[in-house]
Amino acid sequence: MRLEQILFTQGFGTRHECRGLISLGRAAFRSEVLRDPDAEINEEGLLFSVDGEIWPYYEKALIVMNKPAGYECSQKPTHHPSVMTLLPAPLRRRGLQPVGRLDADTTGLLLLTDDGALLHRLTHPKRHVGKRYRVACKHPVSESIVQRLEQGVLLVDEKMPLMATNVAKKSDNVLEMTITSGKYHQVKRMIAAAGNRVEALERISFGKLALPADLEPGKWRWVSSPSEVI
Ligand code: URA
Repeated sequence: MRLEQILFTQGFGTRHECRGLISLGRAAFRSEVLRDPDAEINEEGLLFSVDGEIWPYYEKALIVMNKPAGYECSQKPTHHPSVMTLLPAPLRRRGLQPVGRLDADTTGLLLLTDDGALLHRLTHPKRHVGKRYRVACKHPVSESIVQRLEQGVLLVDEKMPLMATNVAKKSDNVLEMTITSGKYHQVKRMIAAAGNRVEALERISFGKLALPADLEPGKWRWVSSPSEVI
């Protein structure tokens, strides 16, 4: 792929801007400053840098973020900043989108991608990709709430009861549960329908991918392949 094309596809500006970065010697490819924007390089497994910051080449971007509270997943947020503001400019320019949405006060694992087909695969209800949540409840977690969540609770505006799997009491007021659909405020509404109330909600895994323990709130990292998730 041409060097200009590499920077352009990875979100470093217009084609004209990318040509400029290269001819000014601000970009290095496999540690070598190359100044011809039309030179060809094999993009497979490529590490390049712009102004000294190293980037991996990915045809499609997939990243995991530890979403902090107080951020909206919407591109056009109303009350809080968007999670997009936590991303560096090249990723914002690539048009990454959150894979499903977390409420502004929900924390934890948020995937973002610019791969439309993958986004569809990860969010389509028929795919049944499990999302696991840690739920801090207002009232103690009773045996009956665990049973109710696993048997299914009927929510207002829903035709069928929604079920959780692997519901586990973790401490007096904390439970973990997995859901495979992604309805509006689903966990909060399920917990309310089962007779308790969510005080704090954190997503701890998405498919096979667990929230990395060393990923600080507000930080993100690359997911090298969708196979880490499904
Ligand atoms: N369920 C909710 O109620 N809120 C979220 O943010 C995610 C799942």
